[in-house]
Amino acid sequence: MPYAAGERKRTTMPQLVAQKGGEPIVMVTAYDATMAKLVDEFVDAILIGDSLGMVVQGLETTIPVTLEEIIYHTRMVVRGARFSCIVADLPFNTYNTGPAEAVFSAGRLLKEGGAHAVKLEGGLAVAPQVKAISEAGVPVVAHIGVTPQAIHALGSYGKQGKTDAQAKYQLDSAKALAQAGASMIVLENVPHELARQITEAIPIPTIGIGAGPHCDGQVQIFHDLLGLFPDFTPRHAKRMFEGGEGIRDAIQRYATEVRERSFMSK
Ligand code: KIV
Repeated sequence: MPYAAGERKRTTMPQLVAQKGGEPIVMVTAYDATMAKLVDEFVDAILIGDSLGMVVQGLETTIPVTLEEIIYHTRMVVRGARFSCIVADLPFNTYNTGPAEAVFSAGRLLKEGGAHAVKLEGGLAVAPQVKAISEAGVPVVAHIGVTPQAIHALGSYGKQGKTDAQAKYQLDSAKALAQAGASMIVLENVPHELARQITEAIPIPTIGIGAGPHCDGQVQIFHDLLGLFPDFTPRHAKRMFEGGEGIRDAIQRYATEVRERSFMSK
């Protein structure tokens, strides 16, 4: 949604759902108040993704991230964001055992974190969780394709949905999750043509990451977009800025000035 200065109110999930097929939805991750303040004016939704395990905590996978950690980061983001819809990730093992656990965990993200919606990973198997959370009055974003919490089952972060059987599973999952009450579905790293088919087949917005141009919106990880994560840039990431290099250069100049005794701060 392009927003005129001074006119914007908080974007709600029903507004984003209504954007299906219209103005593309812009989502980005953020993990603290400063990041949230920087992106808030320009995006429709901010995701506190469990990707924070990798880009903030330095973990190898998202699996160890806890609900308490997502709540902690969500609180910070909420303090920095006035306009965006705030979506918080349900980490691994906080919804997987069934609908009751899922509703309880989702409730904590809203009540303790201040999120407006939650996101969870998985296909057909998590449709009961999506149904229970949405019936409890909490908007749910589903997430299929590459689901990083299942990395040990998937074996790699490579594209999902390349074979006919995999593509059918992804399409069936998208339909079931939409039917169960999901508000939107993230499609991570699936073939562009499959993303187009899914987008056309379901009545709710698809948000792509590494899924091509046919989705109803896009999501990117803050650090990937800004070149801040030095170890690895996923193929689905588009660097819009070499922030890491700029930061290293600034810190190097600061260190040099201090060591040369030329550094002045008022
Ligand atoms: O955790 C995350 O940031 C995500 C995005 C990659 C969609 O799930």
